[in-house]
Amino acid sequence: MSQLKCLVLGVLLLPMSLLAVAQSIKQNNLTTPANESTIAPAVYAVDPGHSNSTADLFIYETLQLTDAVIANLTQLGLSNVTAFAFQNSSDVENPPKPTFFGKCKTYPGDYLWPSRSLWELFNLLLGKALIETVPYAAPCYNSFDNYNQSNCDFITNNWTNGSIYHTGDPTSINAVLFQGLTCMPPALIPSASNCTVGGYPSYAVNVSNVAQIQLAVNLARNLNLRLVIKNTGHDFSAKSTGMGALSIWTHHLKDIQFFKYYKEDSYTGPALKVGAGVQAFELYGAAKNYGVTVVGGEGRTVGVMGGYILGGGHSPLSSIYGMGADQVLSMEVVTSDGRFVTASATCNPDLFWALRGGGGSTFGVVTSVVVKAHPKIRVTTLNYALTTGNTTSADQFWAALRAFFDGFINYTAAGNYEYFRIQNLGGGQYYSDMGPWFAPGMSQHELESLVAPLFERFKALGVEVNPVFQEYNDFYDAWYASFPVEPWGSNAVRQASRLFPRTNWQDTTKLDATFDAIKGVVEEGGYVIAFNIAAAPKGGYPDNSVNPAWRNTVMHAIMATLWDPASSVSDMKAASDKLTFDWMQRWRDVSPGAGSYLSEADYIEPNFTQAFFGSNYQKLYHLKQRFDPLGVFYAHTGVGSEDWKMSQMIMGNLPSQNSKLCRA
Ligand SMILES: Cc1cc2nc3c(=O)[nH]c(=O)nc-3n(C[C@H](O)[C@H](O)[C@H](O)COP(=O)(O)OP(=O)(O)OC[C@H]3O[C@@H](n4cnc5c(N)ncnc54)[C@H](O)[C@@H]3O)c2cc1C
Ligand SMILES: *[C@@H]1O[C@H](CO)[C@@H](O)[C@H](O)[C@H]1NC(C)=O
Ligand SMILES: *[C@@H]1O[C@H](CO)[C@@H](O)[C@H](O)[C@H]1NC(C)=O
Ligand SMILES: *[C@@H]1O[C@H](CO)[C@@H](O)[C@H](O)[C@H]1NC(C)=O
Ligand SMILES: *[C@@H]1O[C@H](CO)[C@@H](O)[C@H](O)[C@H]1NC(C)=O
Ligand SMILES: *[C@@H]1O[C@H](CO)[C@@H](O)[C@H](O)[C@H]1NC(C)=O
Ligand SMILES: *[C@@H]1O[C@H](CO)[C@@H](O)[C@H](O)[C@H]1NC(C)=O
Ligand SMILES: *[C@@H]1O[C@H](CO)[C@@H](O)[C@H](O)[C@H]1NC(C)=O
Ligand SMILES: *[C@@H]1O[C@H](CO)[C@@H](O)[C@H](O)[C@H]1NC(C)=O
Ligand SMILES: *[C@@H]1O[C@H](CO)[C@@H](O)[C@H](O)[C@H]1NC(C)=O
Ligand SMILES: *[C@@H]1O[C@H](CO)[C@@H](O)[C@H](O)[C@H]1NC(C)=O
Ligand SMILES: *[C@@H]1O[C@H](CO)[C@@H](O)[C@H](O)[C@H]1NC(C)=O
Ligand SMILES: *[C@@H]1O[C@H](CO)[C@@H](O)[C@H](O)[C@H]1NC(C)=O
Repeated sequence: MSQLKCLVLGVLLLPMSLLAVAQSIKQNNLTTPANESTIAPAVYAVDPGHSNSTADLFIYETLQLTDAVIANLTQLGLSNVTAFAFQNSSDVENPPKPTFFGKCKTYPGDYLWPSRSLWELFNLLLGKALIETVPYAAPCYNSFDNYNQSNCDFITNNWTNGSIYHTGDPTSINAVLFQGLTCMPPALIPSASNCTVGGYPSYAVNVSNVAQIQLAVNLARNLNLRLVIKNTGHDFSAKSTGMGALSIWTHHLKDIQFFKYYKEDSYTGPALKVGAGVQAFELYGAAKNYGVTVVGGEGRTVGVMGGYILGGGHSPLSSIYGMGADQVLSMEVVTSDGRFVTASATCNPDLFWALRGGGGSTFGVVTSVVVKAHPKIRVTTLNYALTTGNTTSADQFWAALRAFFDGFINYTAAGNYEYFRIQNLGGGQYYSDMGPWFAPGMSQHELESLVAPLFERFKALGVEVNPVFQEYNDFYDAWYASFPVEPWGSNAVRQASRLFPRTNWQDTTKLDATFDAIKGVVEEGGYVIAFNIAAAPKGGYPDNSVNPAWRNTVMHAIMATLWDPASSVSDMKAASDKLTFDWMQRWRDVSPGAGSYLSEADYIEPNFTQAFFGSNYQKLYHLKQRFDPLGVFYAHTGVGSEDWKMSQMIMGNLPSQNSKLCRA
């Protein structure tokens, strides 16, 4: 039964709006230009396609590349059409060896770099979906013939709070520092004089069907091109960019389908099949309409079925339902050999295991995900702020914060999630805003009872807060009111994070040390953004590749160091190194053997394989060799990334995405 429900049956074809190119079809001594009408007979729909998941394929998933299509294209005599062929052998015991290629990926000027006519043929096969990169901020410069001051003003004014605009651009990303800062709005960066593609990919495929993804994967594999996948570009570690790369841009895969009754493996209940490009605000909106709740992150514009769910995915609902990856029932995915397969508990179970937590851009390109839907849920939120001032000293401030920390195990046991920040205002002044304390399933009255002892302690410490409670009868409304759009695209920040284990709360000495490590970083100017969250719900969780450290944690804390963009390189480097080697070392020292969340992590986390994957690493590395023997997929700090290195550094030790990727 399980085997019957496994491979996706082959299908069909290519989009019909084709572009005239400099290629020709040569048959029977006749030469005709390759264009929409001449190439069309080779490529057309044969079969609507099946999934081995319970859910049918989305329409865009029924447009696939098959051996028959490749054979037809080959017969047309187009030059270099074998560049789009599937990997010959999918024999896992005897994978092809990458010896044919050089040490580095293929870059412009290299023998294998596609000729202009091959790019044009690719574009033709894609139905004109190939976009040559023009950086998002290019209208601010004369570099790309699109200077336009009013467009530049819009981009500049919406740079940091406009993730909705950046996510709609084929190549713009959040972690610009690692891109090389080659095209920032001039107002945001000192001494900017021009705009270059830099660490952005050379080309992006604006994906609207699976065949396009397969063509891109095959081309990248056959010519050893650097391949990246961009969904929204939120990644903290610039995993959705790379110089000279071909990018698969999944943003427009927006389909959502609701199943009131769904059965897959041991699960029976409601579910949603969600396209890879769907963002949190879209998913939550749909779930509200269907009267259900879905697990996703807090960030509004994050892509839920891309990097988020593939890297684990923490949620305001994690303390009751676990991680995003725990909700997955099946996935459709294009693997490194170019094939389109289903991954579920019964179909390609090893791939399924690896995709649920092992990180994005590592095992394949996911095109859709079926996730569990939970019942509609009421939520109560609480907001308050602690601040030093005329009536609260720094000592009182820290004592109040510590009183809050003392309750972490209890709050997560009650299913709560608290998202708070701790800030050094300078001059011995501190500020910490709770926003929000999120209590899914609780009435206002229940949350008030839970936090009453904490407010008593605040009172006993002489610390005043003005708590604001709000009860909502739906997750969407609570989430929308509580989490504003967060800043993006800073060129003057470095971040790092730690998953602090529950055991640190079960021993006063350890809790003292933990609290001091947090406090010390803030006292020295660090900005802390933290979550009281647990991901080991009472109902259990599946065996998947989520970092095991998540199952033991009650606090995920992020630290950030910010600097003046006009500071000297040596000052920036000092701040950057302090973050990784001093502040973070204190956090690691108080949590030996714990981990860090790969999606919100230090770009140069030492010992990252242990920190991001823990005891799952060996198995993940083995599966990486099996599913991607040629290293088609690469993500900085992803599984297997230690076998590669970027050829240049920023500030001496930050791998530059604006340089070549080569085998280590
Ligand atoms: C403002 C903000 C808020 C956040 N909030 C949360 C939160 O609440 N909870 C949480 O857990 N995380 C959160 N994150 C972190 C977030 O999960 C990661 O940034 C994640 O990488 C975003 O995934 P994406 O697909 O949207 O982004 P991208 O940067 O486009 O992709 C991230 C990685 O996944 C790969 N990828 C994307 N799509 C696919 C696909 N279809 N198939 C295979 N690989 C793919 C990319 O190649 C890249 O390696 C937040 C980040 C930001 C910036
Ligand atoms: C997937 O299911 C189809 C039938 O629906 C079957 O022909 C195919 O072999 C299955 N794939 C695998 C890998 O088992
Ligand atoms: C193709 O042209 C060549 C030379 O012009 C000729 O010898 C050959 O017979 C032609 N083949 C066909 C199939 O027409
Ligand atoms: C494609 O080329 C053929 C042969 O030259 C021509 O007759 C036809 O009009 C072209 N079609 C398009 C859509 O350009
Ligand atoms: C290949 O081309 C032939 C003739 O042009 C057509 O009959 C056949 O259906 C095509 N096959 C596919 C898979 O496109
Ligand atoms: C795959 O490789 C084998 C052995 O080298 C060869 O005989 C076969 O033609 C190849 N198949 C394709 C589709 O290239
Ligand atoms: C493709 O074909 C052209 C000419 O037919 C050739 O010059 C080029 O090197 C080939 N390879 C690639 C990768 O474009
Ligand atoms: C600049 O772009 C806007 C659209 O954003 C357009 O209306 C305007 O005409 C453009 N200006 C110039 C000088 O091209
Ligand atoms: C975006 O920029 C425009 C002008 O350039 C400004 O009017 C608008 O308020 C900005 N939008 C946001 C959300 O800041
Ligand atoms: C862009 O500016 C940088 C630094 O100012 C310079 O090194 C580079 O040569 C310039 N590039 C172009 C294409 O003008
Ligand atoms: C603190 O006291 C000073 C002087 O009395 C007053 O100006 C200031 O507004 C007070 N600040 C706050 C936060 O109450
Ligand atoms: C946690 O809950 C237990 C049992 O309800 C209670 O005895 C204890 O005081 C609570 N601790 C804190 C810090 O809230
Ligand atoms: C990496 O972490 C593991 C587990 O904490 C530790 O045993 C190992 O020594 C560390 N390796 C390095 C190079 O620090």
